[in-house]
Amino acid sequence: MKMAGNPKFAHNKDAAGEPGVNRRRMLAWFSGFGLFGSAILSAFSNLVFIKPRATYGQPQRFNIGKPEEFPSGTRMALDTRRVCVVREGDKVAAISTTCTHLGCIVSVADTGFACPCHGSRYDQDGNVTGGPAPKALPWYKVSLAPNGEIEIDKDTEVEPGSYLNV
Ligand code: FES
Repeated sequence: MKMAGNPKFAHNKDAAGEPGVNRRRMLAWFSGFGLFGSAILSAFSNLVFIKPRATYGQPQRFNIGKPEEFPSGTRMALDTRRVCVVREGDKVAAISTTCTHLGCIVSVADTGFACPCHGSRYDQDGNVTGGPAPKALPWYKVSLAPNGEIEIDKDTEVEPGSYLNV
């Protein structure tokens, strides 16, 4: 079929020499739409990563059980929680077991805490007694939950020596 040529595109002829749609211009439009679409999709996916829908990691506030489950003299390391529960008489406290050097888990020792990684040592209250650790182990807030269980809040550090009477 022979089309009436648009004088504006008179210089654009197809392979048969017929005047027709400017293919270059059409391709330019399509690629422009493609780039625009890619930019929009990219922006949405970036927004998803900037504000993730889920949070990861353990809750920093948790219950560990009733006070009677921790008799006087207890120094129990809860490695998955990275905390040591200390009970002396009617007093309960929680000391971090994350080494202040490079973050290894310290273990409970006769003299306090010992780090297996680079040899840091801490006394019973978490004060540094040797090794490269730059500062003492933090103590965390301990309270009684409404159900009577001991609650540890690792988001709240307290002064060393802060015990909860139970
Ligand atoms: S991580 Fe504990 S001494 Fe280095």
